[in-house]
Amino acid sequence: MLAVIGPNGAGKSSLFSAISGTAPVTAGRIEFEGRDLARVLPHERARAGIAHVPEGRQVFASLTVRENIEVGAQMQVDPVRRRRAVDQVYALFPILVERGGQLAGMLSGGQQQMLAIGRGLASDPRLLMLDEPSMGLAPAVVETIFECIAAVRAARPLTVLLAEQRAAEAIEASDDGLVLQSGRIALQGSRDLLMADPQVRRLYLGI
Ligand SMILES: Nc1ncnc2c1ncn2[C@@H]1O[C@H](COP(=O)(O)OP(=O)(O)OP(=O)(O)O)[C@@H](O)[C@H]1O
Ligand SMILES: [Mg+2]
Repeated sequence: MLAVIGPNGAGKSSLFSAISGTAPVTAGRIEFEGRDLARVLPHERARAGIAHVPEGRQVFASLTVRENIEVGAQMQVDPVRRRRAVDQVYALFPILVERGGQLAGMLSGGQQQMLAIGRGLASDPRLLMLDEPSMGLAPAVVETIFECIAAVRAARPLTVLLAEQRAAEAIEASDDGLVLQSGRIALQGSRDLLMADPQVRRLYLGI
């Protein structure tokens, strides 16, 4: 799990969009499991094992909770893996079972974020990109979301990229981190290295 931190406009969301294929790449190379992603069409990247949970809890408001999960699950072609991934999502987020028949737009902000993460996981990805999952949520709900992310990691082997304004929580929860500034990597390293860095402490951790 890698925390991606940096100020507004640093390029965190753009990085994730470049990886998932929703933003064009004009230079450089993105490799995923040894494959050059330039050769994988954007709509095929979900099938290739990449799940992008974009900023702002973009659930399908007029579909039910269950239908939202099914949309994510459709990205997985193997029926056995699909079934297992969906079962795991419902085990991780029991509230989504309880609210299964309700329209996603009727859920609270925190529940919508759980649904957005659950929809990403339902495709059984090997890379999960979470873009500011804590955005706009009350502190207690943020804590729940971070607990959910920890539970996801404990439940299955997968790589997580986590973009966050809440730098302290994000670095704390991750193995490694990187600081983006104006589209460039200003600093990268282990959790302990970032936590100890004077500039990170001053600018992002408020210490
Ligand atoms: N489609 C686009 N066309 C042109 N410029 C864009 C586009 N999307 C983003 N940008 C610019 O790229 C820069 C990086 O934006 P990005 O949204 O990736 O930052 P961010 O780190 O996710 O910021 P935030 O913390 O506010 O979410 C910004 O200057 C933004 O205005
Ligand atoms: Mg962003």
